Amino acid sequence: MYRRGLLGKHEEWLIKYESSMEEDIEITTEVITALKVHLEELMEQKLISREQRDKIVKALDEILRNPNKIFKFKDYAEDIHEAIEIALEEEIGEEAKLIGLGKSRNDHVATAIRLHLKKEISEIIKELRKFRKTLLEKAEEHVYTIMPSFTHLQSAQPTTLAHYLLYIEEEMEGYEDLLIYINNKVVDESPLGAGAISGSIVTIDRNRMAEKLGMSKTIVNTIRATGSRSFIMIASSILTALQVTLSRIAEDLVIWSTNQFNYIQLPESHLSTSSIMPHKKNPVTMEILRAQAGEIIGENTAIMTIIKGLPSGYNLDLQEVTKHLWNITKIVKDSIKVIEDATSRMKVNYRRMRQDVENNPVIAAEIAELISVKCGIPYRKVHQMMAQALRESDNDIQEALNILKRDFGIHTNIPIRVQEYVKLKKNLGSPNPDHIKSIIEERRKNLTAI
Ligand code: ARG
Repeated sequence: MYRRGLLGKHEEWLIKYESSMEEDIEITTEVITALKVHLEELMEQKLISREQRDKIVKALDEILRNPNKIFKFKDYAEDIHEAIEIALEEEIGEEAKLIGLGKSRNDHVATAIRLHLKKEISEIIKELRKFRKTLLEKAEEHVYTIMPSFTHLQSAQPTTLAHYLLYIEEEMEGYEDLLIYINNKVVDESPLGAGAISGSIVTIDRNRMAEKLGMSKTIVNTIRATGSRSFIMIASSILTALQVTLSRIAEDLVIWSTNQFNYIQLPESHLSTSSIMPHKKNPVTMEILRAQAGEIIGENTAIMTIIKGLPSGYNLDLQEVTKHLWNITKIVKDSIKVIEDATSRMKVNYRRMRQDVENNPVIAAEIAELISVKCGIPYRKVHQMMAQALRESDNDIQEALNILKRDFGIHTNIPIRVQEYVKLKKNLGSPNPDHIKSIIEERRKNLTAI
């Protein structure tokens, strides 16, 4: 319809090529919300009558209840904005044309994307909070579950499963804070009334429109309001980082659920088997989550790359950005749900974890620290002595201590039970069980306070 006067008829396959109708399904509700606010403003400014406003709004509600009234123009309209106008005209005739005054698709699409993104991010925040709650509950069960921690995927120092779970919870809190900030300060700004790029001569109160949209402020500059997609780049980058972080956790769970580690068993509904090897239990949900981190990096790269060379102001390239954004929000939402479910229902083989701690010299650094402090020997020196003793004893801690006594005269009473060392780690953020308990308490209060 927009091109009717100027460009004449158009081949269907080319309209389809140019159209964003398929992706616009995501923002139908929000496009209509923006239109209603626009109509309200035209009425306030006495540019249309109350009756006309009511009639058009009623038709819009009808269209929203029955989206087929819009989507039947799928192969004919460039986008949802045009399809709605065509549908409106079908519903109420000529008066539908009143809607076009003082608006552009450019300010309306930017508004709809922002409104929808706000909703998506709010849902992601909700999922993050549920995940954090589960992590705290799980941590509480495993305050005394001793396990090795890993650097370079080699056994490093003793810790507890609760300590590991709290690391994830703290990471998730960081993302939650960022997403709250992004929603409130970056996304929640209204471009409505900015027209195509430099506003309109029609008098409208853009602040009042922002208020009616429920948005906390108006984007002042109309060039920025219509042509900027910084809010998308910022949100997609943070969501990508979140997915990459989840992917690392999924990778831990994949490794821990192998026969070789056997630290955990994922819930059966997260596993699938092999069509040829009857013994196989493959951690498929974690694999998909891990792969989707790759997919999201691709989507984020697509967004950045589409935007990077664009001149300022609206370009149709921007239409091609949004589908990648919705894929990102969908993947992140699903992934948090999946990993929350996996962690809440996984079985923990605490005996295997402890065995690993006992069979590997994971307390070597702690013993060396204790000797350094108790005997007043510089740590670098004890480190050397200990490394030598471990090599000679083939990594047997008790034997290494005998060697230290024999060769260096170190007689101090040195415990060799791993629990003792975990207990000694009381500094902020360390795995000492009492410390961990108080941290869980504190974090639980934080979580319920918001
Ligand atoms: N469909 C477009 C989008 O999703 C909005 C329309 C802008 N079109 C235009 N010719 N200015 O971004």
